[in-house]
Amino acid sequence: MKHFTSVHDVPDVETLIHDALHWKANGRSPKPWTKHKKVGLIFFNPSLRTRLSAQIALQNLGAEPIVLNIGREGWALENKEGVIMDGDKAEHIKEAAGVMGAYFDVLGIRSFPGLEDKEEDARDDILQAFIKYAHIPVVSLESTTLHPLQSLADVMTIREHWQQERKPKIVLSWAPHVKPLPQAVPNSFVEWVKAIDADLTLTCPTGYELAPPHMDGLQVSHNQQEALEGADFVYVKNWSSFQNYGEVLCKDPTWTFSQKHWEITNKAKVMHCLPVRRGLVIADEVLDGNHALHLQQAANRIPAAQAVFSACLKTSNHE
Ligand code: CP
Repeated sequence: MKHFTSVHDVPDVETLIHDALHWKANGRSPKPWTKHKKVGLIFFNPSLRTRLSAQIALQNLGAEPIVLNIGREGWALENKEGVIMDGDKAEHIKEAAGVMGAYFDVLGIRSFPGLEDKEEDARDDILQAFIKYAHIPVVSLESTTLHPLQSLADVMTIREHWQQERKPKIVLSWAPHVKPLPQAVPNSFVEWVKAIDADLTLTCPTGYELAPPHMDGLQVSHNQQEALEGADFVYVKNWSSFQNYGEVLCKDPTWTFSQKHWEITNKAKVMHCLPVRRGLVIADEVLDGNHALHLQQAANRIPAAQAVFSACLKTSNHE
């Protein structure tokens, strides 16, 4: 796999899920081509799970992860073409990416959207600049619009909990939040669930529909109670409006996922990518109950990352 920035980079999603489940069962077994390879994990934004799970995954593969919290510790990077750099940016992304391309076999990049300019965020300039100028495989550690490492762990978790013949009913349920959050996790979840055999419904207040490509073929309901009926899995998540770009349009507490919501479902497993604000996004009784999968999803980030980095390291040309 050359890069891992969305489900569309994956030659065979089922094989990747199978590989992640294999790594979960087999833990640490370095492959000859991954041993001693160096992977840069470059964070423009904060992280707990992605940062730690990627480091553990790479150590399990026998590779060497090196973390740079560039947003806090690196030079401020310019990413505009043809500018005279007489402001506060000390280094151009062309040089920074070129240097990292020489140092590492694979790069992981986390870069969040500004949520102010829809077109700028859709371009995903920072991730694309690293792909263009580093000339090595690049793994998204969450981009402006997608979070594929999270989604692989999510579909892997669903696969572990679904052995029935019929398709599972999966509901992606919007929840309130105090801050405008990116749409990366729900966009990505929709992409990956479409790639497995499942019946997916999005439920959200009006104005929280996702970007057009993700809405294609998606069942949508603005009535949360109706949508939750018969659900086998409920993925609860907040995101800001795409339509009124980056805005918080609704704080209605009736969308907080509670025990009452769970009782409408088919004893659904409840999912969240974390971090989660207790009582605001999901009620304590649900998070502390037997049907919550959020900790298993977080644990699955390790074998999921192992499967992805293993595939990308295999295509890396560095000796
Ligand atoms: N779910 C997730 O990506 O968590 P972090 O932001 O802590 O990495």
